[in-house]
Amino acid sequence: MYRIAVLPCDGIGPEVVAEGLKVLRAAAEKYGVEYETVEYDIGAERYLRTGEVLPESVKDELAQYDAIYLGAVGHPDVPPGVLEHGILLALRFEFDQYVNLRPVKLYPGVETPLADKGPEDIDLLVVRENTEGLYVGMGGSMKKGTPDEVATQMATYTRKGTERIIRYAFELCRKRNDDLNLTLVDKANVLTHGHDLWRRTFAEVGQEYPDIETDCHFVDACCMWFVKNPEWYDTIVTCNMFGDIITDLGAMIQGGMGVAAGGNINPEGVSMFEPIHGSAPKHAGLGKASPVAAIAAVQMMLDELGEADAAAAIDRAIQAALAEGDVPVTTGPEGSTQETGDKIAALVG
Ligand code: IPM
Ligand code: MN
Repeated sequence: MYRIAVLPCDGIGPEVVAEGLKVLRAAAEKYGVEYETVEYDIGAERYLRTGEVLPESVKDELAQYDAIYLGAVGHPDVPPGVLEHGILLALRFEFDQYVNLRPVKLYPGVETPLADKGPEDIDLLVVRENTEGLYVGMGGSMKKGTPDEVATQMATYTRKGTERIIRYAFELCRKRNDDLNLTLVDKANVLTHGHDLWRRTFAEVGQEYPDIETDCHFVDACCMWFVKNPEWYDTIVTCNMFGDIITDLGAMIQGGMGVAAGGNINPEGVSMFEPIHGSAPKHAGLGKASPVAAIAAVQMMLDELGEADAAAAIDRAIQAALAEGDVPVTTGPEGSTQETGDKIAALVG
């Protein structure tokens, strides 16, 4: 019996999460997966009502679950950073979810803005480091608000943190398919301390994986190749900040933010799954947002829980629905969120 904590949070989060849960129910019934969900009232509304972001008691409770399923955080009435740091990043750090797994996969039937590229060209996996780098919040300000203001924001990398994500990426690359190619994306030509650590660690760990071909690409060049030759990539490992940026680009080449899912994984602890899109406040409550990413996040969750058959069934259902057409990959007409969820749930077989 899996116990899943559900945090729909803000904006379109609750609507897309509802569809994800619908598809989870369908897959669980077909494949005999037993689970229960408990929903948590976390997010902008609670913050605006009570001033609480992520109470200690909730954090303690979340530690007891098998997985966390999250919608989206962010609200126009809340200053930027409060919910992002207070909920999303807090959970990633608190539960040491050091892997942020983000598949960039163009499903058949979905249009990519890249001319002459198809599903066989766009199928890669970004393994983003999720607990270090620019995200740790080290640094500070001096003489704030004056003409002499100084601000520093340090990127922090540890040997242990770098090594564990690189090792995870090598292992995953080996398991994923027959295309044994892992690219380190960095900026070692400029970040000569931090990314030198990444390069050396990558080379050392790589010695243990002689079957895997490796490359190192600078992040700016990687952005160019995502657009020009995405077929060059199979598995990518990269730091927190660059992983954030290239996966938004990745979401675009796979057809839209509405199809891109991600997992925040602690292989030995509590992992959290989410669509990578934000709360999209302007679409909230209209039933327009595509739930495909949120549904794909459920697929990733089942996979991580060890329910590979149920996960594969969701993947097939998503692909079948998209192939039929009429499934929005960003936003659709009002009501299409629910219709898409119904359609995919019905196709789970
Ligand atoms: C993401 C988001 C977050 C990040 C924000 C909301 C803190 O952009 O999940 O990619 O930067 O990681
Ligand atoms: Mn992002």
